[in-house]
Amino acid sequence: MNPQTEIIDGLTQTAASISPKYFYDAAGSALFEQITRLPAYYPTRVERQIMTMHGADIAQRIGTGGTVIEPGAGNCEKARALCELVRPERFVALDISEDFLHQAVAGLRAALPGVRVSAVVADLTHAFVLPGDVPMPRRLVFYPGSSIGNFDPLHALALLTRLRALLDTDGALLIGVDMVKDEAALNAAYDDDQGVTAAFNRNVLNHVNRLIGSNFDTAQWKHRAFFNATASRIEMHLEACADIRVQWTGGERHFVRGERIHTENSYKYRADDFVALLRRAGLTQTQVWTNPANWFAMMLARP
Ligand SMILES: C[S@@+](CC[C@H](N)C(=O)[O-])C[C@H]1O[C@@H](n2cnc3c(N)ncnc32)[C@H](O)[C@@H]1O
Repeated sequence: MNPQTEIIDGLTQTAASISPKYFYDAAGSALFEQITRLPAYYPTRVERQIMTMHGADIAQRIGTGGTVIEPGAGNCEKARALCELVRPERFVALDISEDFLHQAVAGLRAALPGVRVSAVVADLTHAFVLPGDVPMPRRLVFYPGSSIGNFDPLHALALLTRLRALLDTDGALLIGVDMVKDEAALNAAYDDDQGVTAAFNRNVLNHVNRLIGSNFDTAQWKHRAFFNATASRIEMHLEACADIRVQWTGGERHFVRGERIHTENSYKYRADDFVALLRRAGLTQTQVWTNPANWFAMMLARP
């Protein structure tokens, strides 16, 4: 499905939705970077803490050299920290946010002159291919940030299976997984009092306007984020502040006041459940590192 068809299909369902991958135009990527600096947004801070506390052990288990591949690399900040630990020969950054990716990769090349760095614009929700010259031996897929949480369990399994397929028997996956925790901490992380997450959520409408020629007015939509304990996920929605008629090239939809567009899920796992998911994808968890409060886990898994 092309982006236009996919977006219009989501907007015209009874329960409207927009895939979270459309958050990431250049403005959305910059807003996400701001989110990672917010005190309430613990995932980045805690994952960095785990990498600092356990970096030597992580590097020792992975070994130096080889190739690091990061799907959804964003600003490549975590890649830089990992590459400083494992000193790969090659780093491949994949992301859907083209301009932001090229900028991040340019920064990484300057910071790590000894590493050959490649950028691949790819949508992880579909099959993707790596450049043909990426060596097969000793690949490490690095998937931090709990980005896997944006996929419902079936799609997470499909993605993990695709990531597993990138690896030979000597390869490994290092993945960041957000754990189920106190609901107040979860809700605060996705509804910060500075309104950055709200701006990030609303910005998806600007991106959609450009992609399908729609006339969403971001000021008419309220950010909503809450933990859905039954589904074990944070949900983000945009809620219509009034009755709104949205038009796009070739179609329209009426939203009544209070109606919502579902924009993101962020699944939170119990460690055993995620290990079981890895196993179903053909990966065996060999090591897990957490912070002392057990809020976040980095798991190393092998085919
Ligand atoms: C939550 S951010 C994580 C960024 C970084 N890895 C980190 O841990 O800070 C998700 C990243 O994945 C990218 N992304 C989201 N959906 C994607 C998709 N379907 N295909 C490729 N990249 C995607 C975004 O552009 C963004 O850079």
